[in-house]
Amino acid sequence: MSVLVTGGTGFIGSHTAIQLSQAGEDIVIIDNFSNSKPEVLGKLKTITGKEVRFYEGDIRDSAVLDKIFSENAIEAVIHFAGLKAVGESVEKPLEYYENNIGGTINLLEAMKRRGCKKMIFSSSATVYGNDNPVPFVEDMSTSAINPYGWTKVMIEHILESVCISDPEFSAILLRYFNPIGAHKSGLIGEDPQGIPNNLMPYIMKVAAGELPYLRVYGNDYDTVDGTGVRDFIHVVDLADGHVAALRYARSHTGVEAVNLGTGKGTSVLELVSAVEKVTGIKIPYEITGRRTGDIAICYADVTKAKELFGWEAKRDIDEMCEDSARWVLKNKIIL
Ligand code: WQD
Repeated sequence: MSVLVTGGTGFIGSHTAIQLSQAGEDIVIIDNFSNSKPEVLGKLKTITGKEVRFYEGDIRDSAVLDKIFSENAIEAVIHFAGLKAVGESVEKPLEYYENNIGGTINLLEAMKRRGCKKMIFSSSATVYGNDNPVPFVEDMSTSAINPYGWTKVMIEHILESVCISDPEFSAILLRYFNPIGAHKSGLIGEDPQGIPNNLMPYIMKVAAGELPYLRVYGNDYDTVDGTGVRDFIHVVDLADGHVAALRYARSHTGVEAVNLGTGKGTSVLELVSAVEKVTGIKIPYEITGRRTGDIAICYADVTKAKELFGWEAKRDIDEMCEDSARWVLKNKIIL
């Protein structure tokens, strides 16, 4: 039996593909390269030593999905494919709803045609919205303040409805906090096109001399140093969380939302300091106004993942920074 990884050449998808393969899983990847590069496939083969069964295509294309399910015995789907830029979702809501929700419904219909009843879904801490107290717990209310976040909230509800309509279906909704870091090989990592929206890739471009300085979005929050606090988790820990979720889904049915975080908060300036310590490179920054929609503090309650999967994050902030730096800076610094 195989596991279909949608969006498997993306940042989290590619790291999960490696951990699945190294855990003995047989994987098939579909990706349309809308936010990744074909060269990742060769790197996956270099790291795992195995050929990757790959289909270039879009989850909105039923023909390619039916081809995959007819040529492979797919037992479960780990679903990453989707658009993920918060700001872009505000400018292009219909594109986000059509891609993310329409694509997921199309994927679920293809799964139904073939009797595939297990999905691990790439959700996000963004579903906790702006009104819940930290640490975020899985039974808290969900909401969103932008179309990207609404697609995650709605897909969670769709999967809950599927599990109600089909008691044999298993859906695990993995709510990621802030994934950073990279595979130890330095061969793959976060590779955003253009100017990064997210903090760590932006810091890394400053470290690489590709951007002049970091803009720190506000230092007047009620936090340790006034800057935003987030639960940064190493992308390989996150990937291992998917392996654990898949094993759980094999012996359980129904829907479960599960946080994948460290349970620890780190501020923007604390992360800047950690990068400077690890790389020896000064990261210039300017304090600017708050970014619309940002919350002050976001970190996970990590009890459920430990109880359900026996999984917890192992890597600390310094290791996340070292691994990010090795991927971005490559031979520019010796770590
Ligand atoms: C982190 C902190 C910013 C950039 C988002 C999505 C979430 C997920 C991860 C997809 C905040 C500050 C950032 C910068 C800064 N994405 N910051 N200067 O907003 O927590 O989460 O990305 O799944 O769904 O909401 O991550 O990295 O953008 O911001 O000061 O140039 O860094 O204000 O406090 P965020 P982020």
